[in-house]
Amino acid sequence: MERKEFLSLVGISVGAVILQNCMSGCSKSSDPTPVTITPTTPTIPSTGGGTTSTGLTGNNEIGKGTIDFSLDLTSTTFKVLQTNGTALVSGDVIIARTKAGDFLAVAKACTHQGTTVDFIADDSTFKCNNHGSVFDSSGSVTVGPASSALKKYATTFDKEKNSLKVG
Ligand code: FES
Repeated sequence: MERKEFLSLVGISVGAVILQNCMSGCSKSSDPTPVTITPTTPTIPSTGGGTTSTGLTGNNEIGKGTIDFSLDLTSTTFKVLQTNGTALVSGDVIIARTKAGDFLAVAKACTHQGTTVDFIADDSTFKCNNHGSVFDSSGSVTVGPASSALKKYATTFDKEKNSLKVG
């Protein structure tokens, strides 16, 4: 065997060994086990119902005076509230329907720094995802850093008309 031929064969063998080591080092069997992300308590997205939505009559903006409005729950925008365990924001108010079918309405802005709160249907609370404040179904603080309650508004449901009065 010629010297050149020998060196060529050695080079191929070394390359094969290096490649094999790399492949075994990179194999999936050495990868860490994928982390399974367990969903946390579902929150109800605060969607739907601006300040002038179809199906809304009255005032839902704190800056415009007394909160006093009605929602037509047969309208496309507000029909989600026909289902228990849902919520939406209309103007400055978050309106929720508990899993038991009761209506709740509180000011949407967290009293800590103003972030819109989410409704947690599982325990009928309102949670701020900014710094973690939690408010009970009457708007009172149960977990800070918020130190004052969300303003709660009265709700009256007219079952025949499928209409909800807030304020
Ligand atoms: S803004 Fe809600 S807890 Fe800070």
